[in-house]
Amino acid sequence: MLERELSMRRGAQFSEEGNDDDESKTRKHISFAVRVTKLMGRIGVLWPLILLFLTLLFVSIAMHSRHLVCVSSYEPYSRMNFFGIGDLESDFETLGVPWCRSKHGRTVEWTSKDLLKGLEEFVPIYESRPIKNNMYGMGFDHSFGLWFITRWLKPDLMIESGAFKGHSTWVLRQGMPDKPIVSLTPRHPEKYLKKGPAYVDGNCTYFAGKDFVDFRSVDWGKVMKKHGITDVNQVLIFFDDHQNELKRLKQALKAGFRHLIFEDNYDTGTGDHYSFRQICDQFYIRGGGHSCFRDSDEARIRAKRKKFWEKAVDIEELCGPEEAWWGVRGEMRDDFNHSNKAISYGEHFKNSRFLESVLDVYWELPPVAGPSLTHQTRYDPGRAHSPIVEDGRYGLFQRLGLTRLEKSVFNGYTQMVYLQISKPGS
Ligand SMILES: C[S@@+](CC[C@H](N)C(=O)[O-])C[C@H]1O[C@@H](n2cnc3c(N)ncnc32)[C@H](O)[C@@H]1O
Repeated sequence: MLERELSMRRGAQFSEEGNDDDESKTRKHISFAVRVTKLMGRIGVLWPLILLFLTLLFVSIAMHSRHLVCVSSYEPYSRMNFFGIGDLESDFETLGVPWCRSKHGRTVEWTSKDLLKGLEEFVPIYESRPIKNNMYGMGFDHSFGLWFITRWLKPDLMIESGAFKGHSTWVLRQGMPDKPIVSLTPRHPEKYLKKGPAYVDGNCTYFAGKDFVDFRSVDWGKVMKKHGITDVNQVLIFFDDHQNELKRLKQALKAGFRHLIFEDNYDTGTGDHYSFRQICDQFYIRGGGHSCFRDSDEARIRAKRKKFWEKAVDIEELCGPEEAWWGVRGEMRDDFNHSNKAISYGEHFKNSRFLESVLDVYWELPPVAGPSLTHQTRYDPGRAHSPIVEDGRYGLFQRLGLTRLEKSVFNGYTQMVYLQISKPGS
């Protein structure tokens, strides 16, 4: 009704204005002022509501205009910030995921479809594991990765370095039920049996306890002969011993092994040993190379991400003395960080060139599922590959049986990596 009344007056005013320009201007102003005063009188009680509405409208426009103007590669993060951590579908890889280039650009034979099929098969196997609580050992993601790669490669002999209570020995056994295992670990897994669950394999040669020998010092020729292995291509090595991975690679090369899995492939600035992920974090790779400038985009984004993800690293943590960001604050760590050595950027760069010169394949296991499904809170998705089961695919996550697992088993992802070493002379 108010609107009808106003429009009738508007019509009357318009016809009067046509008579005299100057007068009409004055009359128009008077008429407008009168109208506003009257209107304000009528809606007096509604003022607080109108003000609130206008404030909300203004804030909303301001926030959205930032999104429209600042189109950056980190846009998904601002989306995440805006809506909370539930909306993370496209948040993976936003900070870049450094990887190691191989000599001929080869990759693995398996596809994401194979990984999905594997997951379906592996979940019930994992549920039957003897060590239910494997704190300090592998969780679900890496157990799946180790099982999947083992089953795919079908080695005649499996060698592991670092067994702890024997969970990884059990996983290898599920991958190849009839093939021998060699396990190098300072404390024999049977020792843990006194206190609780552990796994000791019947077809495994243990170099453990008083018989412990480090991988570097084993007479591999003798071990191969004992197991009737004539082709080193048929041997799979699994390292979970927290030693400098470059050191382990050189030792494996010396023995002629070509298929290597490393459990803890720590990101730059994290972990207790120098890893391949760290080695390949170089300026010429997307997501590689960093600036210690505290006011950079990267610094700002890392600072925000640290609030969400326990293992995310901000610029203060990433950068050591003299702006050294490579390895861990410019250090090459080894042996559970019991030993570490500062290295120059030049040396770090040379290490990556060496690695590339002997590599046929570098493949990082993706996380099994997105954090909105697993509720993992540790690794930063911005530095990880897209998961096998992407965020939002709850139906698939449930169908695979992953909802039956405890949340804590998804918290141990550290970019497990499979390396295939090139044949000498290739
Ligand atoms: C993280 S735990 C291994 C976890 C195990 N793979 C699992 O999935 O449950 C690391 C193990 O490496 C062992 N270790 C330490 N130094 C080692 C070395 N030089 N060679 C082999 N194993 C070593 C430790 O005693 C420990 O059992």
